[in-house]
Amino acid sequence: MKDFKRYLITAALPYANGPIHIGHLAGCYLPADIYVRYLRAQKRDVKFVGGSDEHGVPITIRAMKENTTPQAIVDKYHAIIKESMQQMGISFDIYSRTSNQIHHQTSQDFFLNLYNKGLFEEKESEQYYDEKAKVFLADRYIIGTCPVCGNPNAYGDQCERCGSSLSPEMLINPRSALSDATPVKKKTKHWYFPLQNYESFLKQWILEEHKEWKNNVYGQCKSWLDNGLQSRAMTRDSSWGIQVPLPDAEGKVLYVWFDAPIGYISATKELLDNWKDYWQQQDTKLIHFIGKDNIVFHCIIFPAMLKAHGDFVLPENVPANEFLNIEGEKVSTSRNWAVWVDEYVKDFPGCEDVLRYVLCSNAPETKDNDFTWKDFQDKNNSELASIFGNFVNRTFVLMHKLCNGKVPKLHEDVMDDLDRNLIEEIKNSKVKIQNSIEEFKFREALFEVIDLSRKGNKYMQEKEPWKKTVNSQQSTVNSEEVEHNQKLIDNCLHLCLQLCANLAILINPFLPFTAKKMLHMMKVVDKMLDWENAGSIKLLSVGYSLRAPEILFRKIEDKEIENQIQKLKSGNPESLKGIEETTSNSKMQEAKNSASEAGGKPQIQYDDFAKLDLRVGKILSAEKVEKADKLLKLEIDLGFEKRTIVSGIALHFKPEDIVGKQVVVVANLAPRKMRGIESNGMILMAENAAGKLIFVNPDEDTDAGSVVS
Ligand code: MF3
Ligand code: ZN
Repeated sequence: MKDFKRYLITAALPYANGPIHIGHLAGCYLPADIYVRYLRAQKRDVKFVGGSDEHGVPITIRAMKENTTPQAIVDKYHAIIKESMQQMGISFDIYSRTSNQIHHQTSQDFFLNLYNKGLFEEKESEQYYDEKAKVFLADRYIIGTCPVCGNPNAYGDQCERCGSSLSPEMLINPRSALSDATPVKKKTKHWYFPLQNYESFLKQWILEEHKEWKNNVYGQCKSWLDNGLQSRAMTRDSSWGIQVPLPDAEGKVLYVWFDAPIGYISATKELLDNWKDYWQQQDTKLIHFIGKDNIVFHCIIFPAMLKAHGDFVLPENVPANEFLNIEGEKVSTSRNWAVWVDEYVKDFPGCEDVLRYVLCSNAPETKDNDFTWKDFQDKNNSELASIFGNFVNRTFVLMHKLCNGKVPKLHEDVMDDLDRNLIEEIKNSKVKIQNSIEEFKFREALFEVIDLSRKGNKYMQEKEPWKKTVNSQQSTVNSEEVEHNQKLIDNCLHLCLQLCANLAILINPFLPFTAKKMLHMMKVVDKMLDWENAGSIKLLSVGYSLRAPEILFRKIEDKEIENQIQKLKSGNPESLKGIEETTSNSKMQEAKNSASEAGGKPQIQYDDFAKLDLRVGKILSAEKVEKADKLLKLEIDLGFEKRTIVSGIALHFKPEDIVGKQVVVVANLAPRKMRGIESNGMILMAENAAGKLIFVNPDEDTDAGSVVS
């Protein structure tokens, strides 16, 4: 194995077009932070860099929707994201942003380096242009009819109805998402990076030399490489982004996926004078933590860029996580189906570690996973509070009661197998946890820490030190017995306290706030958390007096959970968060567009479709739902019956404007309560690229209740 001198850890730069949600944390920030905290405790030379990704389409679209400038958007969300990261204890050495001058310079230099080597292909092509808005329309800026399924609102990169991967040229009756204008074709020049030239290098480097990468990562890379790579445009026509540093490139900016990963380099530069040690010395271990929708960019495109440049190290590993769903459904920012970190921190102050715990123990490390509020409560109440917290608390309470609040002695002469086993367990756990972390198996590692505290509880239960106190009523006690019993008590609490100290060290990478509290209780300094101390039972000195216990984890009540579920289901009316969908789906799609892989949602059978009872309905009445800005309560005539349906369209339509409209209703959807109103069904809406909702309805007046199939 290579001997690495220093570590450079990166976590994907989030788009500054909205706050972060728990899927972001679970996907890459938390695992990266756990790893970094562990490395720091190992006293290895490590730097953890990140920042906001402030360019690209998602930002400009968001600006359009909020009727403001891209700069205002990134300023706002960069601040929010940065604060959320900090509040959750994501311990970046620097959290920078790609709008910084140093980043513009670094990216332009990088581009010029490749340009001067003649590595780009310069190609002119005809692309759609919006004469009204005066912009070229790429990706999601252009809408039209899907050539595959006839969906009239398909995007230039993808049809969300049938999942087909599209290009703007394939759309029938294309129109601009910005102005609705019919676009015209106009010539434009771009610089393409010929990825195919790096295919054999990538195949050797990934498929041969990095077989140890996680299956999900290795598999995606293999499929890309097997399908063959193609040239990719590294520039765009836009007014927002980093100027292409060439004389004939007015109005051209770097493609966001060209500049964003260079952000890791710029941030390191900003942080360190000796940044080159971290980027240009072969004994640096560079690790990118990302979500699965970023795999191709970090494993194929960026490494090819780095290789082409020549001065930089390549990542040693790219541990990508899958996605975290919420209550069984995919996160959707446009439907506001998400748990926002800034809101969590307000709703559960002091419970940052609980979220870290739940997200780590449920981390989508090998497959998509689910977050539910019920599970959140269970994990807090019956794992953190009643196992880990309980063990620590009992130990401290008993130590105060039975040992005068001081660390008792360990009496070798009365040690038994239970004591020796516990000592063994402490040593073994350290090794297991360490191995799991080194392999990026954080769930496994965390489970092991909790398991060790479970063993502590079991040990204490078997030892029952509280039963060994001298009862003055008993006339039979002799002083020898008293002394012996006290020795047993001492041994039990001595070991339990040493175990507490070990638990603080072992839990620290995962739950740093908890480790801090434990240090305070033990009156020891941060240094005790050095990883080399784990496994030892000599961490707390005999006779040292300790503080009274603090509650590490409070109970989480049913009411709090109900509130959260309610908030989620009501579409979280106070916030404007859920406007733009930078869905992971759309990113996956973007990733796939240059590979000829089938994309979008997985195929379904006719039977799956046939389960839907779709009907034409007519809106009889509509009214606002109190205290829910987004919701309208609708009465719908379905011919055979009248239905109440609660729909999240209030920001888009005035109630009086939609009465009488025909709609398509999912008539057999299970009822769901929203703001106390039972909703019986759902109406279908289309959303255009600008986030405008449009009714899906028959194109001539149709009887209510007519079947749609
Ligand atoms: N902003 C991108 C996203 O959210 C991630 C960029 S990662 C970087 O998916 F490497 F490009 F920085
Ligand atoms: Zn389609």
